Amino acid sequence: MALEAGDELHIASLDLLHFRNYDAFHLDDVGYLTILVGPNAVGKTSIVEAIQLVTALSSFRTSKASRLVKWGETRAHVGARLVGESRDLEIGLDIAGGSRSYKLNGKAKRVSDLTGLLPAVTFTPDDLHLVKGAAAARRDALDALGSQISKNFAAVRGDYVKLVKQKNRALKAEEADAYLASIDDVLVRVGVQVLSHRMTIVSRVQPYFQHFYREISGGSERVELNYVPCWLRGDDDELTRYAFDRDEALARLEAYGRAMRPVERARRRAVAGPHADDVLFLLNGRNAVHFASQGQQRCIVLAYKLAEAAAIEDATGRKPVLLLDDVMSELDEHRRAYFMEFVADDIQTFITTTNSAYFTDAMKRRARVVRLGEGTA
Ligand SMILES: Nc1ncnc2c1ncn2[C@@H]1O[C@H](COP(=O)(O)OP(=O)(O)OP(=O)(O)O)[C@@H](O)[C@H]1O
Ligand SMILES: [Mg+2]
Repeated sequence: MALEAGDELHIASLDLLHFRNYDAFHLDDVGYLTILVGPNAVGKTSIVEAIQLVTALSSFRTSKASRLVKWGETRAHVGARLVGESRDLEIGLDIAGGSRSYKLNGKAKRVSDLTGLLPAVTFTPDDLHLVKGAAAARRDALDALGSQISKNFAAVRGDYVKLVKQKNRALKAEEADAYLASIDDVLVRVGVQVLSHRMTIVSRVQPYFQHFYREISGGSERVELNYVPCWLRGDDDELTRYAFDRDEALARLEAYGRAMRPVERARRRAVAGPHADDVLFLLNGRNAVHFASQGQQRCIVLAYKLAEAAAIEDATGRKPVLLLDDVMSELDEHRRAYFMEFVADDIQTFITTTNSAYFTDAMKRRARVVRLGEGTA
């Protein structure tokens, strides 16, 4: 990715039209820290979602574009001005007929053309279940990060998702073994690419994750992210850092696929492949699912989110925008303060909250506080 170092972009203005509950919303002169305050259902998350769609180029709430359009309307628009030292860009997203289309300075662009332009890290209360929740949430988090730092990964993952769908259709139709084997030939190859990309993402995030955890917890526990391929899952007691080369992964995945064929036939869906891998958080070498306390889980997620931001900056040369939706109420004073210190100088941040009392006067002085639901929207 050819990115000019030092050419940081930030959001200077934002416009919504028929997006979610808004007829129209406009915000300009956006600075480094914006606190969006308002009662429930006023449209705070919708603003964060709109910003995510023009930065991370996806929404944490839905992959269905039609849900973003205000009920009763047929199209919606999100526009943002992105300003850097030497650049002034206009990014636009049009949503109509269930699909999204992007423009940069008026010219149509594919999502892959815009990848990494201005990345974002989103942190919502749902993320607090990342440690103990289903594997899918952790895989999706890793993939969303990967897609923001590598166009190649986004493309490979897209191919892989299509292959799994094709295989699931074939299993439902009870196709012959030869046909399934021909899908598997490709699926295993593309699957191993997904797997290696993910391992690379994990290794990029790992040192930052460990650093931030130490900083935030002030404790002596050691944390680690552990990527577990499908053929090793379920063996919680034997969590070792797994390293492999491509050939080995290919052989293991092929063998596992063959062994699981009867299970796949019975369940009528693909169970072998990186769509069934997991990425675990370890606490002192043990699976955090079984051992982490509430506070430790929060620390883990917070450290992971900050590590995402650092890994994005590493990979793209750009500081991501931070979108913190309603998480301040979930953090204790110490972690809130740590967060505010992290975002302090130069990382553009949007925070939503129903209660501005979570912020000290010093924080509020640094921020622009936008009150929603008081005739300002
Ligand atoms: N496509 C849509 N069209 C119209 N309204 C919508 C659409 N999608 C969601 N809404 C509504 O928009 C309102 C604002 O939702 P949003 O999630 O942004 O609120 P919020 O301010 O974050 O609230 P909370 O503090 O409870 O999280 C809600 O009433 C929601 O039901
Ligand atoms: Mg909300």
